[in-house]
Amino acid sequence: MQTTLEQTLAAELQELRNTGQYKQANELQKPQAPRTRMDGQDIVMLSSNNYLGLANHPQVIAAARNALEKYGMGTASVRFICGTMTCHLELEKKICEFIGCEAATTFISCWDANVGLMPTLTPTAEDAIFSDALNHASIIDAIRLSKAQRFIFKHRNLAELENMLKTAKARNRLVITDGVFSMEGDVADLPALKELANKYDAALVVDESHATGVLGKTGRGTAEHFGVQDPNTIQTSTLGKALGGSCGGYVAATKIVCDYLIQKSRPQLFSNALPPAVCYGSMAAIDVLMHEPQRLEKLRKNVAQFRSGVKELGLKTIEGITPIVPVIVGETPTAIQMQKALLAEGVFVSGFGYPVVPKGEARLRCQISAGHEKEDLDFALAALKKVAEKFPQARGH
Ligand SMILES: Cc1ncc(COP(=O)(O)O)c(C=O)c1O
Repeated sequence: MQTTLEQTLAAELQELRNTGQYKQANELQKPQAPRTRMDGQDIVMLSSNNYLGLANHPQVIAAARNALEKYGMGTASVRFICGTMTCHLELEKKICEFIGCEAATTFISCWDANVGLMPTLTPTAEDAIFSDALNHASIIDAIRLSKAQRFIFKHRNLAELENMLKTAKARNRLVITDGVFSMEGDVADLPALKELANKYDAALVVDESHATGVLGKTGRGTAEHFGVQDPNTIQTSTLGKALGGSCGGYVAATKIVCDYLIQKSRPQLFSNALPPAVCYGSMAAIDVLMHEPQRLEKLRKNVAQFRSGVKELGLKTIEGITPIVPVIVGETPTAIQMQKALLAEGVFVSGFGYPVVPKGEARLRCQISAGHEKEDLDFALAALKKVAEKFPQARGH
């Protein structure tokens, strides 16, 4: 017999099915790679965050395997009790070397890094958080966990942000933005945000999850892209995308900020530390990135090829420079049907609808990797062309 709770949940699940919003996970049967196997079919992967193609890199795998043999599965403890291993200290040093920051502290994910940051630095109603409306869900939840006053400015609307900063009365102030926005693929105007933050005595926090290893001449992210690196800018980022694609996140900031988080941040105080294999695998990924700049060049070449291909097909997209290339198709069921049709053509690209993106702006989110070959992208564009012919909603103006 179903309990009341189960009846409520079952009705909601049915509603998701009825409205075409029910998510069905596809089974990846080989490693995450630009060409892989899904649901018994060889496919071109166009939806992973494996931007540099390092998720399955031999050097990364070897480093992780050695760590597993040397240090075992995990820490069986949080950092401050007996879970700080040599690997955590080495990884944090490597992140500092890579980013060029004074200090770094790691979390089990970037979700945790964000949730560990905001409620800790701005805990009270005397504090204030200013956040872009399209920031990632982890930032939204982190803000919900803080008692600070909340100011949500329209996406990239600096005039609105300035008005909010001008009128808010607060002690600790955080302006927070994604570096690269995960659903739009556009880039925050970091120089202008930095200027505003400085002018109104706020700390700037940038979530670099989709920018680390992607933007900037050497892949150091949004600040490098704009030439505005500043030790006082607080960065959060993930090890789960360009840097090997496993899991883990970090805050890169000044020694004072990191020391304070180590003392007070609840996800780090009360949740296990990263497994050694993840630490050493991620360090190897950072090393590959630093020693093989050609990967970034290839990524940029691939992004340019795919973006111009999408434009030539007349599909509705958001122009930009990043490997996140949305194709806007309108309603959620259209995105889901197009995802299925593309999979039948041998291309996996994920459809996103409401509430992940606004109503009427459902999309296919294409993501490009340095691991793609020209033929992979030609193949994907040919599939998009064929499928889009059946879905005129995806056509631009
Ligand atoms: C902007 C942004 N922040 C944070 C995260 C969460 O990262 P993680 O998978 O390390 O928790 C994501 C992941 O999708 C993201 O896109």
